[in-house]
Amino acid sequence: MSTEKTRQVVEILKQHNQNHIIKYMQNLTEQEKELIENQILSIDFSQMSELYESTKKKIEIKENKIEEITYFDKQKLGNSKKKHLDDLGERIISSGKYAVVTMAGGQGTRLEHPGPKGTFKLDVYGKGKYLFEILIDNLKEANKKYGVIIPWYIMTSKQNHEETESFLEKHAYFGYDKNSVILFKQGELPLIDLKGKLLIGKNKLVKLASDGNGGTFASLRTSGALANMKERGIEWVFIGGVDNVLLKMADTTLLGLAIEQNVQIASKSIVKANPKERVGVFCKMNGHPKVIEYSELPEKMAEEVNSNGELKYGESHIMCNLFTIDAVEKISKEPLIYHKALKKNPYLDETGKEIIPQTENSYKFESFIFDAFPFFDDIAILRGKREEDFAPVKNKEGIDSPKTAKELYEKFWK
Ligand code: UTP
Repeated sequence: MSTEKTRQVVEILKQHNQNHIIKYMQNLTEQEKELIENQILSIDFSQMSELYESTKKKIEIKENKIEEITYFDKQKLGNSKKKHLDDLGERIISSGKYAVVTMAGGQGTRLEHPGPKGTFKLDVYGKGKYLFEILIDNLKEANKKYGVIIPWYIMTSKQNHEETESFLEKHAYFGYDKNSVILFKQGELPLIDLKGKLLIGKNKLVKLASDGNGGTFASLRTSGALANMKERGIEWVFIGGVDNVLLKMADTTLLGLAIEQNVQIASKSIVKANPKERVGVFCKMNGHPKVIEYSELPEKMAEEVNSNGELKYGESHIMCNLFTIDAVEKISKEPLIYHKALKKNPYLDETGKEIIPQTENSYKFESFIFDAFPFFDDIAILRGKREEDFAPVKNKEGIDSPKTAKELYEKFWK
């Protein structure tokens, strides 16, 4: 049966070189066809063409003016300055104007844990602790200290939302006030193969994946979480990852520094271990704060040393960021750039047969949280300490793995 809608869908697919989907749809039932047609009508094909074209371009940072970032070292602030900053920060938190967002919508492919990353149990102190539980411990500690209940917003993906919710329910939110935990879903983008063709997933629809942690801002607004924050009178929003077991989500020194410096964004950094460490580093590009990914930082710049004998681009971004609520709203309305990631993604071919690729076959497009920094003139950077602030669980084994995170976590708490 050929309807007006089908004709429209076929036209769009032809126009955008997606003829493989027209063929694939011939073997679907009317009901399945209806679902994929609705999905196709909701896809922004000009955005997908632009993203595909962008995969062919090399990122060049040469023509831009790059400078070192200014930072404050937490260890060298001095007692009275530190106390002043802590007091400023404490005033905001204890008056209920502070919220925390955890970005938990990632796929966690490197860890290979079957489930949302926050449900991974780190083998600490014999009985182990889930990553979500470790975050909750940190929030509970802050609540006790400042006499409040910090509202906690968790960003999930469409794939892991239900599992995340039922896990937290099953564990009774590890004793956190359920009314102060708000889950919201992030956005998605289609996956394309190396020739720009959309992949079809096992569910007989165009295959989608979460659109990166930069999607946090727009998702906060479109999900209503931002409006919820405003109703609660929130002024400052902390946004962090799910997988750093030493993440301090309510650092009054960082907050105080942002207030004192009169800036809308702030971030905690740690010193890059060596020029080759695979971390993004802060700089100023054309007068605006920016993080350059390790893959985009030329080797020469990565090795440059300043007059203090330190790496010139040595302040690493550790996903420990603060924003005013106005900054969150502003960014939520701006388009962020997308970065491509080459991934192995199974898909259905034109005949409906599942293909499991042996090598990377597709691009996933992700925006990064730090791509929001250049929208501002300045940022307050507080240099923390690796052994106090950074123990990520990224890889199954080796560096930044459960083994290294366990060691750092137990050492810190000892
Ligand atoms: P990573 O970039 O390390 O990705 O995320 P990941 O999904 O945890 O792991 P890999 O790369 O697949 O192995 C850093 C933080 O950003 C969140 C993650 O959940 C983590 O807290 N994130 C990432 C999202 O919330 N959404 C995304 O689309 C991507």
